[in-house]
Amino acid sequence: MTTFDSITRSDQIEQPARFAQSARWTVADLPAAEPEFEFDVAIVGLGYVGLPTALAYHGSNSRVLALDVSERRIEVIRSNNADLLDIDRARLLVALDHPGFVLSTDPDDLRRAAAVIVCVPTPVDEHLIPDLSILKAATQMVVDHAVPGQVLMLTSTSYVGCTDDLLVKPLVNRGFTVGSDVFVAFSAERIDPGNATFDHDEVPRVVGGATAECEEEATKLLLRYVTNVHRVRSLAAAEMTKLLENTFRAVNIALANEFADICKSLDLDIADVVDAASTKPYGYMPFLPGPGVGGHCIPCDPHYLLWQLRKQRVAAPMITQAMVEIAARPNRVVDRVQEVLSDAGYGLTGSRVLVIGIAYKPDVADLRESPALEILDGLIERGANVAFLDGHFEGVTLPSGTSLLAETDPVAYGADLVLLHTRHSDTDLSWIAPGQLVLDTTYRGVDVPQRVIL
Ligand SMILES: NC(=O)c1ccc[n+]([C@@H]2O[C@H](COP(=O)([O-])OP(=O)(O)OC[C@H]3O[C@@H](n4cnc5c(N)ncnc54)[C@H](O)[C@@H]3O)[C@@H](O)[C@H]2O)c1
Repeated sequence: MTTFDSITRSDQIEQPARFAQSARWTVADLPAAEPEFEFDVAIVGLGYVGLPTALAYHGSNSRVLALDVSERRIEVIRSNNADLLDIDRARLLVALDHPGFVLSTDPDDLRRAAAVIVCVPTPVDEHLIPDLSILKAATQMVVDHAVPGQVLMLTSTSYVGCTDDLLVKPLVNRGFTVGSDVFVAFSAERIDPGNATFDHDEVPRVVGGATAECEEEATKLLLRYVTNVHRVRSLAAAEMTKLLENTFRAVNIALANEFADICKSLDLDIADVVDAASTKPYGYMPFLPGPGVGGHCIPCDPHYLLWQLRKQRVAAPMITQAMVEIAARPNRVVDRVQEVLSDAGYGLTGSRVLVIGIAYKPDVADLRESPALEILDGLIERGANVAFLDGHFEGVTLPSGTSLLAETDPVAYGADLVLLHTRHSDTDLSWIAPGQLVLDTTYRGVDVPQRVIL
């Protein structure tokens, strides 16, 4: 059997003919290579992924250009107010005081970097259709400022073929030969914001290049701070790897939710069952049920795949069904609040519901796609009075436009029902009195007599 390592360069990647054919510019027209790059790497987009990546590079003695279009974001970073793990906060303190870490909003600076890594958001719109506008703008900017010798790497999750469409083809149209003038690769980030268990630098990275030379250069770039790189044979294989990882999570979360509902009807505790199954050392991986999924990955990424498959008329019924179930979960929580209140002799209209934890997961100040937002809106729509308690937020504006200020005195609020949505490690639940009605959507959040689960 042929192993990948033994495959020759020409076996690995067929150099597309268009690299040679479609160049409209001659080599002489290309911008001159920077005689010596001032930065080893530029990071484009300094969010939950880009900022820790920039800090990891700086921590590994790379000279870093950290670029974001948002002046506000740069200010948050400069004042050390970004939502970061302790290790990254410490790295930022060092970086802010060091000439090898430069914050910028000027795309012209990109010419000064030997490598450019794009880490901008890839969300979905309200119809769950991929919104590529941010990624297209960022890659266009990178292409427009590309100079010979650069390694250009996409790390944003996207559809299969995206790196080719948004980097390779436009670079070829500018007259570059990809694989010799510039090097293009895809390597998705696997960062887990708020999770300090896994060292960012220790998590293996998967990389695919547009050519074997691109793969080689991209691997060297990653190895500046990552300890382990797994190479795949194409950009597309690397892009699909990320879609598999996150679709796997989505499908399993949908399954865990279904099992939670089944256990409830059979009067079993799903948390006990998951704990028990988790004792199996192989062939099982625990997923926990909950009020829905949030963040920038699970609710979005599988839709990039489904969207792409629709164009090709390829059906993916299991993934489709999982995403439908996931999207419906917050509404299920609203139904359950109504049911629990009704069982206790209250109507939802006029009842007071206090939601504990509105972030999409514990220990992050991130509200993107958080089920809590839809749940709060759904409760308001059905006539409930709502409030929330979450030390990470002073207030929130819901998708409907309603603004809420955080509740500061939960006892004084006098909730008819407490809805436990997200339990941060510093969430204090000691104020919950024994008679308090609690709906626990985390399935393992609190031990009080009046607790019911979702
Ligand atoms: N957040 C996660 O848990 C996570 C994990 C792994 C992968 N990802 C993927 O990484 C990508 C980035 O996600 P994120 O959570 O870091 O996003 P984010 O919203 O936290 O940050 C993105 C940053 O990019 C900036 N930006 C937007 N357009 C820009 C441009 N043209 N030039 C420069 N900066 C620009 C924004 O101002 C923002 O600061 C997404 O594709 C996401 O799917 C996210």
